[in-house]
Formats: sequence, C-alpha cells, structure tokens
Amino acid sequence: MRKLILLLPLLLFVHCRKAPIIPTGLVTDKAMVVSAREEASKIGVEILQQGGNAFDAMVATELALAVAFPFAGNLGGGGFMVYRKNNGEVGGIDYREKAPLSAHKDMYLDSLGNVIPNMSTVGATAVGVPGTVAGVFEVHDKFGSLPMETILAPIIALAERGAVVTEKQAKRLERYREQFIEVNGDSSKFAQHFQVGDTIKYPALAQTLTAIKEKGRDGFYKGEVAQKLATFIQENGGFITEEDLAKYEAKWRQPVIFTYKDLKIISMSPPSSGGVTMNQMFKMMEPYNIGKYGHNSTESIQLFTEAARRAYADRNYFLGDPDFVDIPLDVLLSQSYLKERFANFSFERATPSDSVSHGKVEIVESMETTHYSIVDDQGNAISATTTLNGAYGSKLYHSELGFFFNNEMDDFSSKPGVPNMFGLIGAEANSIAPEKRMLSSMTPTIVEKDGTLFMVVGTPGGSTIINFVAQTILNVYEFDLSMQEAVNAPRFHHQWMPDIIMFETEGFSEELKSALKEKGYNIFEGPSRIGGKVDAIRVLPDGKLEGGADKRGDDKAVGF
Ligand code: DON
Repeated sequence: MRKLILLLPLLLFVHCRKAPIIPTGLVTDKAMVVSAREEASKIGVEILQQGGNAFDAMVATELALAVAFPFAGNLGGGGFMVYRKNNGEVGGIDYREKAPLSAHKDMYLDSLGNVIPNMSTVGATAVGVPGTVAGVFEVHDKFGSLPMETILAPIIALAERGAVVTEKQAKRLERYREQFIEVNGDSSKFAQHFQVGDTIKYPALAQTLTAIKEKGRDGFYKGEVAQKLATFIQENGGFITEEDLAKYEAKWRQPVIFTYKDLKIISMSPPSSGGVTMNQMFKMMEPYNIGKYGHNSTESIQLFTEAARRAYADRNYFLGDPDFVDIPLDVLLSQSYLKERFANFSFERATPSDSVSHGKVEIVESMETTHYSIVDDQGNAISATTTLNGAYGSKLYHSELGFFFNNEMDDFSSKPGVPNMFGLIGAEANSIAPEKRMLSSMTPTIVEKDGTLFMVVGTPGGSTIINFVAQTILNVYEFDLSMQEAVNAPRFHHQWMPDIIMFETEGFSEELKSALKEKGYNIFEGPSRIGGKVDAIRVLPDGKLEGGADKRGDDKAVGF
C-alpha cells in the first residue's frame, strides 16, 4: 500500500501526459516578431510600437530582410503569407513569382530534349517575374494602418547605415564568392571578401526603396526601375520584359484549413504545396497516437515518414498553379482517399517508394529561403515565407538597383521525371507556361487550439519545409516541447523520391538508424542537407508569447 502511495504521483504524471511546458525561448507579454535577422525583427517590432498592426509589421519585416538578409530576403523574389486576425478571420496572399510571357514548356531543353544544365538555376535565364513588392503593397492596401512612408523609413535608413556581417553570413558570402564573380564579374559588390564585423551598406537598394516610397508599387513595376530591371535581365540573356513587370499581380487565396485532433491548422494553398501536403500527412497520422511513441523514436519516425512518402508522391504528380491546372483537392483531401492511401502502412516494414510511384533522383546544392512570424498586441497573426529560391537566388545582382534576382524558374518541372535542385520530380501539372506560377513547398502556417491562436510557424528548406513545419507542430502538441525546444529539436526528412530518410547530423543515435534499417528504411549516409530555420511563436496558456528562433541561423525573437 505504501508503495502504491509513493507511486501515485508518478502514475498520475504518466496518465495525464500534459505537464505544463516550461518556455525556454524569449517570452513577452503582448507582441513579437521572429525572423532570420535581429535587425529585421527589431524593425518589425518598432513598427508595432508605433501603433502599426501585424500587417504593417509584415511589410516592414519582409523589406528589412531584403536589406539585412540578402541571402534570401528580397525585392527580386516572392513568397506567401497566411494571416489570422484577432476576430478569427483567416486568409492568405500569394506573391509568388510568375513565368515571363515568353516562357514555354521546353525552354530549358536542348534540341535533343535534354535539360540544359544551370539554365533554370544560375543567371538571368533562371529569373521569374518578382512578386515581393506587389505582395507587400497588396497587404498594406487591404490591412495596413500606418502610412507606407512611416514603414519604409527605418528600412531605407538601415540600407544606408548598413548591416553588420555575422559569422554565419561571412562564411556564406565566402562560399558563394566564386559564383558571384562568374555571374556578375569581378568588380561587382559581392566579389569582395567580407569579414565578420564588417558593415555592408546598400546605397543602391536605398535608392530603389526610395523610388518605391515615392511612387508606390509602380515605383518598382513601372518607370525607371522596371526599365532598368528588364534591360539588365535581357542583356544577360534572360526573358523578363517591362510588360511582364507591368502585368504582375499578387493574389489573395483561401488557405488550406484542416483539423488535427483538437488543433485547427491554417496553411498555404496552391501554388504552394505546403498546406495540401501537410493536410494529407496529418490526416494519415491522426488515427495513431504519435505522442505515445516518443519524440524521434523509431515508431514516430516510421509513422511520419510513411505519411510524408505518400503525400509527397501526390504533391509531385497532382499539384501546380491552380490558375492553370485543375487539382482534385476534394479527392486528395478526403478521409476515404487518405485512409485507402495509408491502408498498407505497417510498423513491421517500410513501404518502398517505387511501389507508391516511380522515379529515381538525387539531391544537390544548398539553398535558402526565409520565414518570419509575427503576433501583434491586438492578437493578429501573420506567417510569411519569402525566397529567392537558391542561396542569393540566381546569383545575378543588379548593382544599380541593389538586389539579387531569384532562380525560381527551377521550381517548375523543366521536363517530366527530371528532378529539380531539390530532387523533386515534377509532372505535367507543374510544367512551364507563360504567366504560370511555379509549384512551391513554402508552408507559412497558423495553428488554432480551442478556437484561439496557438502557434505561428514556418521555415526555409526547399522540399524539407513541409516536413519541418509538421515536425515543429508535433513537437509542441504531441511531444510537449517548449516553442524554442521544438524549433531546435533534431529533424529528419523523407520526400518519397529519393527513397531515403535524411537525418540531421546531431541528435539521432546509431541504434535508432540500425532499427530503421532492419525494417527496410534506407538511411542517407552522405553529408546531411537537413537544416531549415524555423521561426515560430507560441501563445502560452497565460496569453504571453514564447518565441522559437532557430539556433541554426542568426534568427532572433524580439517583442514586448
Ligand atoms: O518555393 C519553394 O519551395 C522553394 N523555392 C523554396 C526554396 C527554399 O526554401 C530554399 N531554402 N532553403
């Protein structure tokens, strides 16, 4: 009996799994911005403190990243944003790049029908029509509360004052220096060596931002900037014209909304694959109690991997720009379809990917995108992921305008069955057409619990994005990690093809890998490409906010 009494607290603990989660990230009372650079998070918060709302802060953070984080922050790229207002209203905006008017299905193929190496990834031929400036203006027009001049002022000041080079940034700039020289010549800005602690000023970018301040979105898409942009791209062999720029529009889209147990998950819809793929994965996993298996245990990795395998196979086949292709979403997201799709799952043995569908691919290169999460003091939330695609995009830099151009055209399927730089194999749904948007994996996401805001989350990482967002949500909800722990926790990835599980270098034991191998899983043994930089915010039970700023980058949570 005494023994039982002593054991009672333990039994109760095991039974009611939900012990309070102790926050380990920055905790603030009311508002927060988490982004890839402290300068950008601070500018976002400054705008909130001046009375701006989450949408004003989105505009500020997005553009501040274009200055402080040229690796992925951009004027020459595009992205997606999902929002949830404090009254529960949700929505999303697509400011994804588009294929130029002269683009066509076979534009990256030679006369024998083979993909021409580098044409969709490096230099002017890789550039899609940029969407970021249109995106922020659209958001501001609809929901902004402060004047655009007020929002742009600290960003222009930052571009003039410059941003200090961090250790990680110095390494990246050095790693890509040769490529910058190949694309832009040896007298361009990024041909120089930068050291930790150097300040990089961006006077040309400050001028472009000033043109935008004075003329609004037309300061970018029409007139002098547009003309300089189009001329430069064409002189370098690319396809973007002034007409392409003048015609560009960002689009409001209804997000994908689904439930997982007592969570409601709101994420980006096509042309991003994030929401649909995550919806499929969560619904396949829902009947199992993954929390019970343990964080990153053999069983939880198996369950997650098998769901990802099937959902990514569908992604690659069915998804594309909904303005161009019909996506059978009602079937793909139906309970009966997903139940059937997961019917052959077993904890005994891996399902080989070539029995799910076909294709063999390899993953190459390292890339960058960036995500930021914002909650304002009124409880409005935005989740935005923005990108140039590869690190510094196409590496093409316009010295007069002061920014890099994307290489987003590579997110199209250049040829059915031939993998892109993420190893993703596309199909007809994602083939190239004039003015079409290329399929994305970006997954800006907002989670509600019991009808109130619970989490804002997203990450870079190319094809790994969807899995990392899903793992971060599970880490908090199923495995009881704090927001910061959930972001820092070791991650893994499976994308159907290639049929391998990739693990982050640290955090997974040899025993675990052997156990998986025995069950028929292929473990990737090469250098791990697993990274991602998840920037997230969680609303704590007392209403305060906990930031999760990824330890893998220079990411920073700031708030009040
Ligand atoms: O839209 C996409 O899916 C890709 N262009 C994202 C690229 C990316 O995340 C690179 N970052 N690591």
